[in-house]
Amino acid sequence: MSGSYSRIVGTGAYLPAKILTNKDLERMVDTSDEWIYARTGIRQRHIAADEEQTSDLALAASRTALATAGIDAADLDLVVVATTTPDMVFPSTACILQAKLGARNCPAFDMQAVCSGFVYGLATADQFIRSGQYRNALVVGAEIYSRILDWNDRATCVLFGDGAGAVVLQRSNKPGIISSHLHADGAHVDMLSVPGTVSGGKVSGRPFVQMDGQSVFKFAVKVLDEVAKEALTANHIEKSEIDWLIPHQANIRIIQATARKLGISMEKVVATVDRHANTSAASIPLALDEAVRDGRIRAGQHVLLEGVGGGFTWGAVLVRW
Ligand SMILES: CC(C)(COP(=O)(O)OP(=O)(O)OC[C@H]1O[C@@H](n2cnc3c(N)ncnc32)[C@H](O)[C@@H]1OP(=O)(O)O)[C@@H](O)C(=O)NCCC(=O)NCCS
Repeated sequence: MSGSYSRIVGTGAYLPAKILTNKDLERMVDTSDEWIYARTGIRQRHIAADEEQTSDLALAASRTALATAGIDAADLDLVVVATTTPDMVFPSTACILQAKLGARNCPAFDMQAVCSGFVYGLATADQFIRSGQYRNALVVGAEIYSRILDWNDRATCVLFGDGAGAVVLQRSNKPGIISSHLHADGAHVDMLSVPGTVSGGKVSGRPFVQMDGQSVFKFAVKVLDEVAKEALTANHIEKSEIDWLIPHQANIRIIQATARKLGISMEKVVATVDRHANTSAASIPLALDEAVRDGRIRAGQHVLLEGVGGGFTWGAVLVRW
């Protein structure tokens, strides 16, 4: 075994072609561009075409990540797809993606941690690489939330969008991923959930996102602050040493409140929520890919990724780029 760390060696992203603006939403529900932008920072979201599945979004993002990493799908030892909106009940979207990529025989599984799914997936793949078991892992966050939204419910339908982001993790002599910190508290199911299920040949329960927005807001800011501090403390790193904070992109006010609590300037925060809305497990890799491609993230910098979502789940991954 050479190296006991993992490094992100390629990133990729995909957003469906169709854009739904706040103005478009004004024609669908009783809302306004002003209300949505003031409360969330969102201007628009992308919506998957009818024929697109989550695995298709994942495939496009993965191909770019693999090309950037300079490896073939056949070289992958592991495929992890973080998603809450799988193509079907089973097989997993990761298995469907693996076949579409032509990465036969490597293990593939979905990670269900809602908006923290990418952070959970990254932490898991990192452990497999650190242990020496695998060399190359693909970690994807891919979602089609537009299919689990009640488009008559203005309190939720304005908040979410579709998309996918992917990274290739590779074994390395130096970090890479410095540490990961995962948490969950299943006592808050009622605060944020899609309570429907498939049973007896039909959907029972309400298969749409429901939430207590204000409670989610407060909980998200609290745990994003806590877990970021946990990552800094564990590594004896000062907040001034964080070059880029990439939080889950749910709402610009949650992002601003978290940055304020942490004492990190918004100039060091990557924010894409204005253009993508909340893409759940895809939001962090989408933002990461953008900041890598536009040259903001550079070699040697510290990047802190952190997510929070239904479950509740939350977590952070500290990376040296
Ligand atoms: C949803 C959220 C934007 C609502 O903002 P808020 O400031 O808490 O607003 P409130 O829920 O208090 O609602 C205020 C008013 O706006 C109304 N409203 C709700 N959605 C609206 C919309 N899309 N357009 C216009 N008005 C709306 C409400 O009905 C309420 O009206 P009322 O005062 O007459 O009762 C905010 O709570 C939030 O972002 N929460 C976190 C959600 C999230 O990120 N979830 C995923 C986490 S992973």
